[in-house]
Amino acid sequence: MSIIITVSNQKGGVGKTTTSAAICAGFADRGAKVLGIDLDPQGNLGFCMGLEGVNGSTILDALQGKLKLQQVVRRLGKVDILPSDISLSATGLEKLEPGKRETALKEALSPMMDYYDYIVIDTPPALNLLTINAYVVSDFLIIPMTTDILSLVGLSQLRETIDSVKRSLNSNLKVLGILLNKFEKGTALSRDVEEMTEDLAKQISTKVFKTKIRQGVAIAEAPAHGEDIFTYNKYSPAVKDYSRFIDEIAEEIEENVRVSEVVG
Ligand SMILES: Nc1ncnc2c1ncn2[C@@H]1O[C@H](COP(=O)(O)OP(=O)(O)O)[C@@H](O)[C@H]1O
Ligand SMILES: [Mg+2]
Repeated sequence: MSIIITVSNQKGGVGKTTTSAAICAGFADRGAKVLGIDLDPQGNLGFCMGLEGVNGSTILDALQGKLKLQQVVRRLGKVDILPSDISLSATGLEKLEPGKRETALKEALSPMMDYYDYIVIDTPPALNLLTINAYVVSDFLIIPMTTDILSLVGLSQLRETIDSVKRSLNSNLKVLGILLNKFEKGTALSRDVEEMTEDLAKQISTKVFKTKIRQGVAIAEAPAHGEDIFTYNKYSPAVKDYSRFIDEIAEEIEENVRVSEVVG
């Protein structure tokens, strides 16, 4: 079975797409077969992975059952991508009956659940039906946050959404952790933010990842060069942070999967 990871935060600009792309490339570099799914109508994940223009079918066609997933997948150098574009802002999913509208993605993915080692889902800056579809099909959630206090706001809404999905549609969902991004160590503000984030993490029964991601121009530049961050500049300190982060989550996911195999 594929392990499915969703990267989510209803605030924009915190590094969801950057982190999704890094996880895709990082796991592929470590030998895994990876599918990246873009559930954001802004369509940035494809761009970050080097996809030049969508021109054709998108994830929406699969969600609406018009095409099979295999017909929408684009094979890039390292990973496969299910791209999106602005048409995903009107999915029509809300017209489906309750129970179906939240599970459209799960339904669409089911034929390919054994093919990939990892499926990584990038989500829009919202808690809407698309986000819920991602949570329903996921094993793990990763929540990136930036160190400006505002990105910590709205966590109670996030918690409610996670709890309601866990209660009704996916009891298996686990929040793997909160990732502090654009984080400068050693400042008074960063210490305050880290403490606050640890408190927030407890409220959603998770923790803050040990690895924090520094700000680095290479991270922002890589997409414009059509390259993932590790190919673009593996010597950038921020890119090295992401590499450590991939190692951290790989280890934890392995541990979690082992435990659930023993229990299950
Ligand atoms: N650690 C970082 N250092 C420098 N720039 C970053 C970093 N993380 C993200 N960015 C940049 O910040 C912007 C927002 O990141 P993005 O991943 O698109 O956020 P989101 O998907 O949450 O909206 C992008 O331009 C991205 O390149
Ligand atoms: Mg994004």
